[in-house]
Amino acid sequence: MKRHLLLLLVFLTAIQPLRADEGMWLPALISQRIADMQAKGFKLSAEDVYSVNQASLKDAVVLFGSGCTGELVSDEGLLFTNHHCGYSYIQRHSSVDHDYLKDGFWAMNRNEELPNPGLTVSFLERMEDVTSAVLKGYGPSMSEAQRDSVVRANSAALTKAATADGKGLRASVEALYYGNQYFLFVFRVYRDVRLVGAPPSSIGKFGGDTDNWMWPRHTGDFSIFRIYADKDNNPADYSADNVPYRPKKSFKISRAGVKEGDFTFVYGCPGSTKEYAMSEDVRYVSEVSDPQKIALRTLRLDNMKKHMGESPAVRIQYSSKAASVSNAWKKWQGEAKGIDKNDVVNVKRDYERRFSEWAKGTRYDGLVEKLGELFARRNPYYLAYEYYTETARTIELLSFASSLRNAYPDADAVHSVAESFFKDYYQPIDEENFVAVMDAFDKKMPDEFKPAWFKDKLAELGSIEALRDYVFKGSLLTDKAGVMALTADDKDKVAVDPALEMYDAFYRWYYDELRPVINGVNSEISLAYRDYMQGQMDFEKDKAFYPDANLTLRVAYGHVEGYSPADGVYYYPVSTLKGIIEKDNPDIFDYDIPQKLRDIYAEGGYESQPVCFLATNHTSGGNSGSPVINADGNLIGINFDRVWEGTMSDIVFDPEICRNISLDIRYLLFCIDRIGNASYLFDEMNFAD
Ligand code: ARG
Ligand code: GLU
Repeated sequence: MKRHLLLLLVFLTAIQPLRADEGMWLPALISQRIADMQAKGFKLSAEDVYSVNQASLKDAVVLFGSGCTGELVSDEGLLFTNHHCGYSYIQRHSSVDHDYLKDGFWAMNRNEELPNPGLTVSFLERMEDVTSAVLKGYGPSMSEAQRDSVVRANSAALTKAATADGKGLRASVEALYYGNQYFLFVFRVYRDVRLVGAPPSSIGKFGGDTDNWMWPRHTGDFSIFRIYADKDNNPADYSADNVPYRPKKSFKISRAGVKEGDFTFVYGCPGSTKEYAMSEDVRYVSEVSDPQKIALRTLRLDNMKKHMGESPAVRIQYSSKAASVSNAWKKWQGEAKGIDKNDVVNVKRDYERRFSEWAKGTRYDGLVEKLGELFARRNPYYLAYEYYTETARTIELLSFASSLRNAYPDADAVHSVAESFFKDYYQPIDEENFVAVMDAFDKKMPDEFKPAWFKDKLAELGSIEALRDYVFKGSLLTDKAGVMALTADDKDKVAVDPALEMYDAFYRWYYDELRPVINGVNSEISLAYRDYMQGQMDFEKDKAFYPDANLTLRVAYGHVEGYSPADGVYYYPVSTLKGIIEKDNPDIFDYDIPQKLRDIYAEGGYESQPVCFLATNHTSGGNSGSPVINADGNLIGINFDRVWEGTMSDIVFDPEICRNISLDIRYLLFCIDRIGNASYLFDEMNFAD
């Protein structure tokens, strides 16, 4: 019996790593994972994934802009990313006469590609462990503040030395494992990046906020760019003389397709996770922060939706604003639910009890209790801060007033700030939002966590509605003509505008009363978390720990797999064009596909054209646009989302539920060819099969 149990145990521990596809691993340390990856089907070597001596897959992956990922797909600088990553650039090129967002954009030759000032792509040249150099001069007798200055000075010296060649290099030192380890990242940053193609939004954003974070999904979430360089292949400002960048490496595209069980590998830049957080930190997120922020955003979204439904002009003005409010709003709902369903807080508490037991008599003794106290001290202040960001900070008129003050009295700057504000401003929404969120602020925040100005004004005026009128009726800044006519002589009038008065009252309150407490506790929390992270690594000696995401390049590997979102339901991992046609509805904005796509479908033979697929890769925000790679290292998809029920993977990864959503590369090829008539682009791509 005992032997059987033992065997079972051996068996269980042996298969466990095969199930769990958790982890976002550092490419430079991929040799530690490569055996596991190969056991799961990967056919390449660690050197193929990451190498500083020879071209490797990392050379075909870029940080796109400041928060997405992209991949090189030709020897002439052609790059794929998501539609939602290219969105603002596509929008900037759009006007009433040529609405590329609505109709899509396809350069028919290189001369038609559109430059995007400000857009950069960053290639990772190398990453290396610089922990001892960063901590040089640090001694245990030093305070946390002294440690910080040592770290900062050493990091500055390291990044300076690393960027000496001057050819577009950028370097940063990033803390990993809460500062137990430091890595230097050196990037080469290219700044002439041109738009090559984008599908119409009705394909690139198909499903909109309705389908966002959900499966089954049918979004053609891609856009295409090209990187340009000077004649020596180095970064350069935009110039007509620049030539297509010649990458060290680009992906071959596989058209062989995916099926359940296939190995998948996502190479990209996840933004932020906290997998090693303590129970109180997680409890605050799922029981306090997420629900409160969701409730506040619901108020604003309801107002926006009502007005957007009544007027097409308002829908255009607010669609991008509503999309960004809605994105986190929906994610938080899935996250809080997932944490609750997995009983994460109690699982963590249980872990902490075992940890504390083990920690007795070590330097980690009492650490968990200490962290608990720190969070108890921080949370009321932090909640007030989050209320501030989700209420007063969201009133459009107030932020506008502040930007205007920064621009004033430079007439040109004032005019451009005002033009862009009024273009997408609908005052009734802002006023209704004001009443809704400020009323919630008043009711939910304890009196000691309200700005004195707010309490006094409310007492004086009698109601939130009266406060709204005080701000909106009293402000000069709601009237575009009035703003445009402001001159330097109006200085005094601008300075006493009630919109600025409220903006400043809240900002000062945050700055003087909340921030010092939050920052003070946070620095104690970082110190305690650094110890707790090291403690967890010492406690579980045999476990492989990956560092929390921080927008540095990571490898996540897994496989194509469906999931069961609820009892009695199973989701297959692949969606097809047939599903798009089933959702198609000209009366519903999010599901109204281009007529051209209907016509193509009507030709017949496209029912099983693949569109998206699910896999078990551990990804996060920032992984948008990441290449999804098969066992041979070839490109099979572009990552763009996760499933709603699994969004708690930023805090805890449940292999049963957590899935990333990718665009099938064959749908991208289909769109280039049939929607864009731009199949000339295939000539420069390399196909694996
Ligand atoms: N959920 C994805 C992400 O977090 C896509 C967001 C863009 N799409 C949208 N419908 N808002 O970025
Ligand atoms: N859409 C997200 C992004 O923009 C990726 C989805 C996620 O959070 O996993 O990065």
